[in-house]
Amino acid sequence: MDFKLCEQSFTRVINLFPQPIVVFNQVGEIVCSNSLFNHEIRDSLEDDNLFSIINTEEMLTNLSQGGYYFKELKLNRDKMYTASLYPLESNQFILIFNIHPTTQFASISRQYATQIFNDINSGLIVIDPYSRVIEINRMACAVLGIEKNEIIGKTFWEAFPDIPEENYIVSRSLINGVTETNKAFSWTSGGKSFELLLDSHLLYDSAGGLAGAYVIFKDVSDLRSIDEKIQRSDRLSMIGQIAAGTAHEIRNPLTSIRGFLQILGQSLESSGFEKEKGYVDLMLVEIKRINSLVDQFLLLSKPRDVQYKLVDLNEVLAEIMPIIQNEAILYNVEVVNKTEGKLPKIIGDSELLKQVFLNICKNGVEAIGKNGTVTIDYEYKVREKKVMINIHDTGSGIPPYILDRIFDPFFTTKEEGTGLGLSVCQRIIQDLGGSIRVNSKGFGTVFHIILPYLK
Ligand SMILES: Nc1ncnc2c1ncn2[C@@H]1O[C@H](COP(=O)(O)OP(=O)(O)O)[C@@H](O)[C@H]1O
Ligand SMILES: [Mg+2]
Repeated sequence: MDFKLCEQSFTRVINLFPQPIVVFNQVGEIVCSNSLFNHEIRDSLEDDNLFSIINTEEMLTNLSQGGYYFKELKLNRDKMYTASLYPLESNQFILIFNIHPTTQFASISRQYATQIFNDINSGLIVIDPYSRVIEINRMACAVLGIEKNEIIGKTFWEAFPDIPEENYIVSRSLINGVTETNKAFSWTSGGKSFELLLDSHLLYDSAGGLAGAYVIFKDVSDLRSIDEKIQRSDRLSMIGQIAAGTAHEIRNPLTSIRGFLQILGQSLESSGFEKEKGYVDLMLVEIKRINSLVDQFLLLSKPRDVQYKLVDLNEVLAEIMPIIQNEAILYNVEVVNKTEGKLPKIIGDSELLKQVFLNICKNGVEAIGKNGTVTIDYEYKVREKKVMINIHDTGSGIPPYILDRIFDPFFTTKEEGTGLGLSVCQRIIQDLGGSIRVNSKGFGTVFHIILPYLK
């Protein structure tokens, strides 16, 4: 083989190799080299001569065995190499470099790059200049709902052909330089939806050429929902204030209307206007309804003069049982109270507590509609010094999509409902240091009322 003749095609061949390669002569001058060598190593040579980095003696004494392996070639760079040396014809030598395994990444950040890449609590996707994914970390895979090997080597639109273009986390235009900062982004996979905050950047190689790009994103789903909750509670407290203000304004004129109506009713009756007296009675019933609504408004915003006293929960329940029974009979609902004599004493306001149990039992009866059972039982959480009173019903259950709204004031699914019952109950129980929880899975519902008790 005439090496000179083949030099051009030889250079082309060595350029295909993923490691630096150089051919030099017996005085260390470069005959030909591939671009990786030029790029990564050539700078480190003195006078562009190979003997500035390899020990000639070491090389010559060992070459007789046909080839030589340099275990460590330390260059003026942060990388260390191993290299294999072979003699060619006409006193030329070929040297093939490999990055030294222990110093593959010289700086700490490089050394731990892979680990950091996978550990960070952010999604990270690296693409090549053709928008193909070349690296993707664990979190990104989890959010996207895919396995790493399903997406490596593919563009986003190849990996997710069914998804509309505007929903690509890695956009087509990224590689053209359209980068983003703090872009809010939604993604749904496996029935879970993620709110993401996303940045993208271009990557350049040391020669300034475009090497690819990466996208990094943070899962902010929780923050968003917290934000929504704050907004909602702001809205609710505003409703409460308006309700309180309005309630007072309604109650006063209502009192005089009721008074005059009663007088009117009496006169109508004594004058024999039976039919008209009936109308007045109806009006009085309606006014009573408005009044109780107003009472609930007021409770919602600020409990009335609360009478905190030692209250026997058994008595509270015993007193409301007849009222519930009355209501239940109308609907052919059976009420079973398993708490008799078993409940503790707590500090609270017995009237308000009655209202809580009444409201929740009434909801249960209403949810049953016809034929069913409302069961009241209890459980002690001795360590926490709390008692849990459970009100079960065999009613329709609460659909999941309204479950977290049922405690909102004015939320109702009933034609005649006020939507105030549960919000008032929650307010009362929370003021006593307790909580209300609800469990409803398809069929029936349980409300758990948890209250701290005295020893
Ligand atoms: N036991 C229950 N079973 C099914 N749905 C219920 C139950 N309790 C409450 N709900 C739902 O919660 C909503 C709010 O209840 P509430 O605040 O008492 O207002 P209202 O009873 O006036 O509608 C009801 O309209 C109903 O949709
Ligand atoms: Mg109700």
